[in-house]
Amino acid sequence: MPTILVIDDNATNRETYTDILQADGHTVMAAATGEEGLAKLTAAAVDAVLCDLKLPNLDGLATMELAHERFGNVPWILITGFGNEETAVAAIKQGAFNYLTKPVDLGRLKATVESAVRMANANRENKALRRDLGYDEALDRIVGTSAQIKAVKTTIRQVARTDATVLIEGESGTGKELVADAVHALSNRSGRPYLKINMAAIPRDLLESELFGHERGAFTGAVSQKKGKFEAADAGTLFLDEIGEMPLDSQVKLLRVLQDGSFSRIGGNQALNADVRLVCATNRNLKQEVLANRFRMDLYFRLNVVHIQVPPLRERREDIPLLALSFLDRLNRRYQTQKELSEGLLQHLRRMDWPGNVRELENHIEKLYVLTSGKIVGPEIAGVAPARVPAPANHRSEVPATQAPVGPDEAIAALVGLPLDEVERRLLLATLAHFEGNKSKAARQLQIGVKTLYRKLQEYGLPSEEHGDAAEVGAKA
Ligand SMILES: Nc1ncnc2c1ncn2[C@@H]1O[C@H](COP(=O)(O)OP(=O)(O)OP(=O)(O)O)[C@@H](O)[C@H]1O
Ligand SMILES: [Mg+2]
Repeated sequence: MPTILVIDDNATNRETYTDILQADGHTVMAAATGEEGLAKLTAAAVDAVLCDLKLPNLDGLATMELAHERFGNVPWILITGFGNEETAVAAIKQGAFNYLTKPVDLGRLKATVESAVRMANANRENKALRRDLGYDEALDRIVGTSAQIKAVKTTIRQVARTDATVLIEGESGTGKELVADAVHALSNRSGRPYLKINMAAIPRDLLESELFGHERGAFTGAVSQKKGKFEAADAGTLFLDEIGEMPLDSQVKLLRVLQDGSFSRIGGNQALNADVRLVCATNRNLKQEVLANRFRMDLYFRLNVVHIQVPPLRERREDIPLLALSFLDRLNRRYQTQKELSEGLLQHLRRMDWPGNVRELENHIEKLYVLTSGKIVGPEIAGVAPARVPAPANHRSEVPATQAPVGPDEAIAALVGLPLDEVERRLLLATLAHFEGNKSKAARQLQIGVKTLYRKLQEYGLPSEEHGDAAEVGAKA
């Protein structure tokens, strides 16, 4: 049964489209914002998207662009207001499948969705064929031709189709999440849910409920039953990011679940089973964490069935020009420009050490792009130091200068070159971490309302839902 995602901030429209598509035998998921739509695309395989052009925050086009970047070319049907034909045509140039003009003719809507679904099927067959020939979109997204990256891709191909647990290690910004995405995308589970949990971003007292769910009344604030990610990822893949940050008591519980093959929601006694493939990532050296008694050895062995080490960028410098060009390419497409990177600049970039790895290079290219008004981005502008991504404590950077303690001015300077959104995201994370995940205290410190904090967390794809009640209780206590 084809699955259609409807994104529209207008509830009446959403319901009308949903009803009509369901009557045609489609499974329909609905989202009120672009961000929510993207989250749904992460969690399930969608055949086509029906999306209003005008949405609060991320509009329909921006949502499409992000979705295509992250999930490949799912057919996108945009709904535009009357008289907006020009935008609609531009949208098609940018990769939209088709558009419908308001007031939407429901017959035409059905027919357009049908042909989008046919296109999705054709794409899928094509993809399977390409995969048999050794190509894959998810792997193509990992840019690089160095021997190290080729080896990483080979391992992904070899293990993706098994159910083996994969442990991905590598410094911050090396591309661990891209690797995890590819493992899922190339697996037989690719049409099934793919859920992610970041261990570092979830307050420790809520982690268990996030993983295994809870029954109503299980603890103060558990106002309704909630499924955990294990349950929701049934038949699919669960990505446990920053697994090295998992508290020891949660490690015990995770281990028990992996051993027993069953779990129960907090406050429940029914044993539940879920067929979940685990992929974990960390920027720590997990073996050393075991030696330091911060990570359980038995869990380490369970998780480390297949090991993928993503090498730092400075150990595969030949990938730097390729990566730089691909980031520039994306900016050129986004802003419809034709800027170029000079040979001199590429040489300069190759010599740099990139303690923040690919993410740092990506941010740096974006900064150079913005600072260049002409067509050629040359080395003269590259004197601008790259934005320093703060390195994790255990990170084996060879550039000690970035790890020296910094004063407030340097701390601010270190943020130069990052998009404002990213600065805000980091500040939110750091403030939350400072208050041990207590959202009320964090909001008070930031002098914003708790609601605003939740909205922002959601915008940045940070865990926010359902935690509120418990965090509130914590604040009052
Ligand atoms: N080989 C690559 N090709 C293209 N883009 C890449 C590559 N590696 C990383 N990136 C980009 O760099 C950024 C960081 O990658 P990613 O989030 O996967 O890193 P990470 O190792 O998970 O980092 P962290 O430890 O900080 O979570 C992303 O925007 C990603 O798309
Ligand atoms: Mg990551």
